[in-house]
Amino acid sequence: MIETVNYSLMSAQLAALTENVPYETANLANASALLWQELPEINWVGFYKMEDGQLVLGPFQGKPACIVIPVGRGVCGTAVAQDRSQLVFDVHQFPGHIPCDGASNSEIVVPIHKNGEIWGVLDVDSPNVGRFTEEDQKGLEQIVQVLESIL
Ligand code: SME
Repeated sequence: MIETVNYSLMSAQLAALTENVPYETANLANASALLWQELPEINWVGFYKMEDGQLVLGPFQGKPACIVIPVGRGVCGTAVAQDRSQLVFDVHQFPGHIPCDGASNSEIVVPIHKNGEIWGVLDVDSPNVGRFTEEDQKGLEQIVQVLESIL
């Protein structure tokens, strides 16, 4: 059993960290650092932003990652194509999964919106199969709501 994460507290911390900060990169960098600090058993967390019709790597924590992901490709591109969070128990069973860090075994991706359109995604990877639960999905969607309010 891994420890329970207090997503409400984390959302409040993120709101405080980003309050009155009008700089997107700074806010996303601090958001990735906060998630990295608070989420146990993860090996990558970060953002991909829609640029020129594809997902482009943004601020993150973890090993260097793929720079461009087309919409509809991998877990991230599927989250955009379906405009829906992707909770992946075992990435090796996900058709078209894009391996960036070979240590990753499970993954969760949450779409982020701005002005009614998809702005990008939050992506979290874990070395543990089945690391993420529906509670994590709800919690990370709460985190994304904070980001959507400041983007
Ligand atoms: N695994 C992702 C690619 C991004 S890395 O995990 C950081 C995917 O399949 O979209």
